[in-house]
Amino acid sequence: MTEPKLIKFNKIGDPSLGYISIAEENKNIPFQIKRVYWTYFTPNHVERGQHAHKKLEQLIVAVSGIIEFTLTNKNEKKQTFILDNPDKGLYIPRGYWRDIKFSHSAVLLCLASEKYDEKDYIRDYSEFINLGNEI
Ligand code: TYD
Repeated sequence: MTEPKLIKFNKIGDPSLGYISIAEENKNIPFQIKRVYWTYFTPNHVERGQHAHKKLEQLIVAVSGIIEFTLTNKNEKKQTFILDNPDKGLYIPRGYWRDIKFSHSAVLLCLASEKYDEKDYIRDYSEFINLGNEI
């Protein structure tokens, strides 16, 4: 099964000018990008996520602030990833439950492999665990 992983983006620029980082599908992003969305103004006592996807793959960047992802696989093994720099991306394969925490003013950018489809979500944790190898 494909594992989640941190991706380091190249940075072009320097401290006096600022930086640019680039995501290109099938180059440093391992899927075709069909959708882009961003999440912002999440109070830092709120946890978002609490779902898994059957098919969707995602690449997440904290373009501002710090975002903490806890990913759980179907064997209930947890991994925590801290996105604390815009040169870091988190690749999330299908089939991982995610819990997401945001620092004040964090902005989450998501590149997604599929268009929005609520039927692709699993929002019930026990259903996720019981799906076994189905996803
Ligand atoms: P959701 O994916 O549950 O957000 P998070 O994981 O950040 O907590 O989406 C929140 C709401 O927004 C939900 O009602 C579905 C809707 N939504 C869309 O309509 N289109 C989209 O592309 C996304 C990502 C969400």
